[in-house]
Amino acid sequence: MVLFNEILPLQSYLSKYKGSSKIGFVPTMGALHRGHLSLIERAKKENDLVVASIFVNPTQFDKAEDLLKYPKTLDSDKQLLDSVGCDAIFAPSVQEMYPENVVSEKFNFAGLDAVMEGKFRIGHFDGVGTVVKRLFEIVKPDNAYFGEKDYQQLTIVKKMVEIEKIPVNIIGCRISREPDGLAMSSRNKRLTEAQRLEAPLIYKSLQKAKAMFADNDIAKIKVMVTNIFSGNELLTLEYFEIADATTLLPADKKADGKKYRGFIAVFADTVRLIDNIALN
Ligand code: PAJ
Repeated sequence: MVLFNEILPLQSYLSKYKGSSKIGFVPTMGALHRGHLSLIERAKKENDLVVASIFVNPTQFDKAEDLLKYPKTLDSDKQLLDSVGCDAIFAPSVQEMYPENVVSEKFNFAGLDAVMEGKFRIGHFDGVGTVVKRLFEIVKPDNAYFGEKDYQQLTIVKKMVEIEKIPVNIIGCRISREPDGLAMSSRNKRLTEAQRLEAPLIYKSLQKAKAMFADNDIAKIKVMVTNIFSGNELLTLEYFEIADATTLLPADKKADGKKYRGFIAVFADTVRLIDNIALN
């Protein structure tokens, strides 16, 4: 496995493979866990060469504190990537990725960024779009892998590629979970023991919503989820939304032939956890 911190050496390495090999790409912000590695494993199966990036992208953080607190674990990340056969890592500096101003490009995501994560984290998806577009320009992958854990991000990246006409296949990968159902996340490490014990309630509430979905209206399911968290001293519900799986528009009524997902964001003190589930 080879590590690059700069664009030109990475591109010169990749130029030896371009054309003759399929390049799979997995963008990350590091602090890797099994969820990230499952994306690498999928990319390994479907490509000849796999590149992972590790870059804590400043423009997608709406809170300075979150950016400062983001864990940096490059040594263990390298070991983990090596253990699943990743071929190359791109770990650039902020200066390398943003040689001029550290600002986002403004995108028109056709409303996909106006709801849920976009509504609660202003500017977040312009930051994601900016860095992912730049990474795609640098790596020029055939296939790029994103987790359904960040389903709205996955949908927005697909839209960005369509709008910008970037020749890459975007592949969504299933959510990796801890044995108790909690979606794997680098933020889970910031939970206290008591919060960690309580956190599986997030996925449990999604599973209940799924079980109710066929026979109940959306308002009733939302009340059920709200009630699960009301009075909980460790977990505070920020939102639970049922939305069209394609347009991400929040739905208040079910329509025939449409796919819906449940989306949730919960605070455990200052740690914000998100999850989602296919409802039908
Ligand atoms: P990061 O949070 O490091 O996640 C990198 C990729 O891993 C994302 O596609 C995310 O959805 C996926 N992932 C995280 N947890 C997962 C889990 N439990 N199961 C499956 N996949 C999981 O998402 C970002 O970084 C950034 O926004 C990025 C796309 C790199 C742009 O900066």
